Amino acid sequence: MEVKTKSLLDNMIGVGDMVLLEPLSEDSFIENLRKRFDHNEIYTYIGSVVISMNPYKSMLIYSPEKVEEYRNRNFYELSPHIYALADEAYRSLRDQDKDQCILITGESGAGKTEASKLVMSYVAAVCGKGQEVNKVKEQLLQSNPVLEAFGNAKTVRNDNSSRFGKYMDIEFDFKGDPLGGVISNYLLEKSRVVKQPRGERNFHIFYQLLSGASDDTLKKLKLDRDFSKYNYLSLDSAVVNGLDDATSFRTVRNAMQIVGFMEDEVQSVLELVAAVLKLGNIEFKPESRCNGTDESRVKDKNDLKEMCELLGIEQSVLERAFSYRTVEAKLEKVSTTLNVAQAYYARDALAKNLYSRLFSWIVTRINESIKAQAKTRHKVMGVLDIYGFEIFDDNSFEQFIINYCNEKLQQIFIELTLREEQEEYIREDIEWTNIEYFNNAIICDLIENHQNGILAMLDEECLRPGTVTDETFLDKLNTVCAQHQHFESRLSKNSKFLTDHSLPHSCFRIQHYAGKVLYRVEGFVDKNNDLLYRDLSQAMYKANHSLIKHLFPEGNPAKVNLKRPPTAGFQFKASVGTLMRNLQTKNPNYIRCIKPNDKKAPHIFTESLVCHQVRYLGLMENVRVRRAGYAFRQAYEPCLERYKMLCKRTWPHWRGPAREGVEMLMADLQVPAEEFSYGRSKIFIRNPRTLFFLEERRRQCLQDLATLIQKIYRGWKCRTHFLLLKKSQIVVAAWYRRYAQEKKYQKIKRATTVVQSYTRGWQARKLLRELKHQKRCKEAVTTIAAYWHGTQVRREYRKFFRANAGKKIYNFTIQRIMQKYFLGLKSTLPSMSPIDKNWPVRPYIFLDGVHTELRRIFHLWRCKKYRSRFTEDKKAVYEEKLEASELFKDKKALYPSSVSQPFKGDYLEISKNPKYQKLNSSVDEKVLLADVVNKINRANGKGATRILLLTKKNVVLADQKTGQVKASVALPDLTSVSVSTQNDGFFALRLKEGSASAVKGDFLLSSEHLIETITKLHHIGSAASDGEQLNVDIADEFLVQFKQDKVCVKFIQGAPKNGNGASCKRKNNRLLEVSVPASA
Ligand SMILES: Nc1ncnc2c1ncn2[C@@H]1O[C@H](COP(=O)(O)OP(=O)(O)O)[C@@H](O)[C@H]1O
Ligand SMILES: [Mg+2]
Repeated sequence: MEVKTKSLLDNMIGVGDMVLLEPLSEDSFIENLRKRFDHNEIYTYIGSVVISMNPYKSMLIYSPEKVEEYRNRNFYELSPHIYALADEAYRSLRDQDKDQCILITGESGAGKTEASKLVMSYVAAVCGKGQEVNKVKEQLLQSNPVLEAFGNAKTVRNDNSSRFGKYMDIEFDFKGDPLGGVISNYLLEKSRVVKQPRGERNFHIFYQLLSGASDDTLKKLKLDRDFSKYNYLSLDSAVVNGLDDATSFRTVRNAMQIVGFMEDEVQSVLELVAAVLKLGNIEFKPESRCNGTDESRVKDKNDLKEMCELLGIEQSVLERAFSYRTVEAKLEKVSTTLNVAQAYYARDALAKNLYSRLFSWIVTRINESIKAQAKTRHKVMGVLDIYGFEIFDDNSFEQFIINYCNEKLQQIFIELTLREEQEEYIREDIEWTNIEYFNNAIICDLIENHQNGILAMLDEECLRPGTVTDETFLDKLNTVCAQHQHFESRLSKNSKFLTDHSLPHSCFRIQHYAGKVLYRVEGFVDKNNDLLYRDLSQAMYKANHSLIKHLFPEGNPAKVNLKRPPTAGFQFKASVGTLMRNLQTKNPNYIRCIKPNDKKAPHIFTESLVCHQVRYLGLMENVRVRRAGYAFRQAYEPCLERYKMLCKRTWPHWRGPAREGVEMLMADLQVPAEEFSYGRSKIFIRNPRTLFFLEERRRQCLQDLATLIQKIYRGWKCRTHFLLLKKSQIVVAAWYRRYAQEKKYQKIKRATTVVQSYTRGWQARKLLRELKHQKRCKEAVTTIAAYWHGTQVRREYRKFFRANAGKKIYNFTIQRIMQKYFLGLKSTLPSMSPIDKNWPVRPYIFLDGVHTELRRIFHLWRCKKYRSRFTEDKKAVYEEKLEASELFKDKKALYPSSVSQPFKGDYLEISKNPKYQKLNSSVDEKVLLADVVNKINRANGKGATRILLLTKKNVVLADQKTGQVKASVALPDLTSVSVSTQNDGFFALRLKEGSASAVKGDFLLSSEHLIETITKLHHIGSAASDGEQLNVDIADEFLVQFKQDKVCVKFIQGAPKNGNGASCKRKNNRLLEVSVPASA
């Protein structure tokens, strides 16, 4: 079982249950109410009774959420609320099959009707759902607006004051679903129909009809919208703030429809309402009669007529009924006239009756609609919304009746409460101790006793023949009730020799359980009689209107009943009796409403007013009764659950039965044994003090526990936070480390790469060096080995090879090559001609030098051979040729042609020719040259043939024919020979000046063999040992000494000419021109 530790003791403002009030006094009671009211706590408990303060403002405590909150909760679990009571009542009705009644009391405007509606709406909200159920709920709820329209009015105390007592039985099936209901109404304040106190209104329906009905409806009802046209409507508060009559009218019509009123029924009802208004407008005037008495007559018959039309009454019948009264006695009928006052009395009585009967009919009609259909046994929840105790300055019959009713309710409360208490004690096996309280049965008896009760006295007076007045009634009371301890009157006081001036003569005072009330007897008899003249009821019965007829059954002449109708007091007593019997069978739930102020204003708490209500509601009495035995009781489980922290052995878990736990707890706390008792399922605590002691201890303990919880929570929170931080930190650190390591790694990697590259480089180089070294070593080894091998081999094979075999081979090879070369050369040698330029091609480069050298040598050899073949003469010839070449080659154009001519020298064969014998003998020496030349005449240039002889010492010129020597020139006298560069044979022999030969001057000669001649001349000159070199001048202009004259010989190029070459011509004495033909 789930045990809830929540309690109304939690967060209490003041005390939530007056039973726990300590100390209990009226002041503390009211102070507690005020405190709670100031904090908007309008509900307070007295045990299971709910005190409700009217907040006069809308509260947020009636929401559907609140309904849910209070649903199925223990009564004391949550803060006091009307819903808690409604829930408790509904649940025990549904679950424990106990009929319930909810008794709502309180003065006018205290909130009873609101409370009853709250209860009904709560029950409607929590009970079953479904189409049929909802319809029933709707009808039950909608009966309220209809009843309020007809039974409520604005009073000074309450703008929506119920002017009747209402008891409504709501019927449920076994599941707790509503089936229907029955409404009983008590004592409608019908006097209001004809007269309203200042500042108050008639019943709402009149105003609602006039404001809300359509023009058409009003016309049909012959009404006017203007309130002021109707006598029965007080005008000073026709319009009430916050009440919208027109809207309300529509609501009421709608509600009537929902509840089940037929359209014609509604119409009839409205016609009756209209008729009442019309009735009020009927006025009377006195008409003197012959017998001297005044007879009343209807003043203006228009209203009467309209009313009669409305109700279908014959006008004359009604008119007569307002003027005459028929008194029937036995078989006799006596008709008396009515005076004006009586007529008004009759009119008002009719209006009151009409309206109150209409109201009762409406209640009956509603009951017809809402009554449960099924005949099955059902559970009932009664809601009683009845006027509370009333103590006014001027209290009359109504107050007396009302207070009687309240007295009865108090009686039943005491009875039921005590009975309940006693039953619980028995149930719980607690010893019953006598409870002291005030029992108001004695007061009830004073009022209702059949023989000598006040009501019985009043009836007696009313029925008594003879003159009956209020005074006679008081006298009767004085005689019968004087001895009663709760009855006071002037007379009874006087009899006790006490004078009380607050007690006038025409009054009596009853000391009710809720206080003393002074009643003025005036009107008691009349009100009790509640007479309606028979003529009027008969007139009504005659109406052609079904509803009216139905309302006045006593008007039926066929059922003339001479017996007086029961008095109001009697009726009321009877219905209260029924009600009480009804209530007694039910489980009561009390709601006691208190009005905090007279101003209908929120937040105002008028202490005197509240105090007054607390008194007459008997609330203190209530608390006392409740506290008479044990002030507080609680089932073991919640009790243990609530206080288990106060004892170490029950905290935190008690394993055994709850009762033992509680016993353990109480023992541990050392609560005095007389302060509590153990029931079967509950612990009973006698004194609130004990409870508060427990509560206080619990509060302290809770603080410690709260600290503990707080500590643990904080620890947990901090730890969670720390763990989160730690986790986050790890994540952050991990990420950071990763990042850092990554960076570091990259750095190391880079460095490593660098180092590695260096190392590798170094290693590679080292390796390279090594490899190179190895290679060199290998090479060296190879070389050494080769050498060594070579040496070895050579050493080994030395015996097989001559030491210089290589050289020999080489030499051999070379030799072979050379041999081959030379042999080749021999076979390919060029001709022996020195001028042959041919020479074989060199076979080898290395023979280059040799080849060239050999060529030179060969050439030289060839030349030598060539030369060796020469004779001395020939040799001389060639020497001459050579000399000629030296002299003339490339200098004289004639030279090339001379090369091929052999130098004969002696062309004339002088020695052999006898012709020149003589001449030959003339010259001593050997003739080196003998030739024919032309001697140029110095004068004309003509040539003359001469023989030229040349010896080693002379040049001799002789005549060709004769052979006579013409001139002989010693060679030393010759200085030079001049020739031209051209292809001519001219030459000049220049003589040394002063010499013997020079007398005739130089010789200019021309020879066929010029080159030979000059060369021999030159040769002789150079061969002479002492002789000077003969100069050979080669030029195209030269001077020749002719005797004394120097003549210039000039050679010019002439045209080509056949035959003998050049021609010489003396131009002048100075110039001798030689023209040389150009060689072809
Ligand atoms: N619980 C409540 N919350 C708000 N206003 C309330 C409450 N009870 C009563 N009232 C106000 O007080 C007025 C009178 O209440 P009502 O129930 O008609 O009094 P009673 O029936 O006791 O004469 C209501 O019209 C309403 O304005
Ligand atoms: Mg009311």
